[in-house]
Amino acid sequence: MNILGIETSCDETAVAVVGDDGGRPAIRANLVQSQLAEHAPYGGIVPEIAARAHLDHLGRLIAAALAAATLGFDALDGIAAAAGPGLIGGLVVGTMAAKGIAWAANKPFAAVNHLEAHALTARLTDAVEFPYLLLLVSGGHSQLLACTGVSAYRQLGTTLDDAAGEAFDKSAKLLGLPYPGGPAIAEEARRGDPRRFALPRPMLGREGCDFSFSGLKTAVREIATALDPGDAAAGADLAAAVELAICDCLIDRTARAVRWFRERYPQGASLVAAGGVAANTRLRARLAALAADAGLAFVAPPPALCTDNGAMIAWAGLERLRLGLADPLDAPVHPRWPLDPGAPSPKPPR
Ligand code: KG4
Ligand code: ZN
Repeated sequence: MNILGIETSCDETAVAVVGDDGGRPAIRANLVQSQLAEHAPYGGIVPEIAARAHLDHLGRLIAAALAAATLGFDALDGIAAAAGPGLIGGLVVGTMAAKGIAWAANKPFAAVNHLEAHALTARLTDAVEFPYLLLLVSGGHSQLLACTGVSAYRQLGTTLDDAAGEAFDKSAKLLGLPYPGGPAIAEEARRGDPRRFALPRPMLGREGCDFSFSGLKTAVREIATALDPGDAAAGADLAAAVELAICDCLIDRTARAVRWFRERYPQGASLVAAGGVAANTRLRARLAALAADAGLAFVAPPPALCTDNGAMIAWAGLERLRLGLADPLDAPVHPRWPLDPGAPSPKPPR
């Protein structure tokens, strides 16, 4: 099978072709056009600019991805696009392009959940078998999920406020570092002493597997505004403290989920990390240690497949289409689209 995948849910326009050669997945093309420069003057993502930029870049990227894969539309077995969750303008641009190709080339269409695409990436890169425990940490989401099959996810925890990536991004802004904040903080932290500034670890040791990061952001703001501008090491020290605090929170919550998962799914063999924050080297090292202690394999896709990309959409489309899960050409987009619609709302600490 060869599937074209289109990702336009946020601020990356990404197109990929993923195939399977006798059951072994192959990424035949994977192109990402970042919109950082378009949004930089505004200090955040402007939805209308994102939608227009997707429109500007998408046609060229689709042609380039097919050329890199040396395939024409006729050779495709399906077209997949992220249909949510995300910014509605971008979702409309990507899904309409995919539907147009699917209609013109008479191929099946897959409306892919962007979160499911992150969740399934470890099956593209490492052939991970269900069930597995997933820490999904990105700019918009922080979730722990038991993944038991395509379309079958049970949410064990989510964030009460900011996502982990948002905590990195907002802290970076307070430190005068560029967007995206995660890589900027990780780089700055390399030269810093994480123990100089004491930051809170919201939810640490609490029941359940929910996260909270807004208290951390407030503490970072207080420390950042009181910093002595002549203190050359302070920025790196605070960046290191932020990275450590976020990792401590993620590890504490994941450790609880691991205990639950091992009881509930004794046959489950893997702890998987996905989403942009899973590109973080220190987080990956600590998750690997946590998994090893629990007798689980740790799997995280290479960093370029943790952050938003087209290959994950194409792969999720492939997984769905080979199960016969095609979508009609009038399938809607979903700006909100939880993986586990039955999950209870997160419980604030008492
Ligand atoms: O999955 P993603 O590319 O987009 C969303 O679906 O949100 O995740 C982007 C997020 C941003 O918040 C970014 O700061 C964070 O992932 N991120 C990182 C790293 N690389 C990207 N956070 C920590 N360390 C990194 N190395
Ligand atoms: Zn994402």
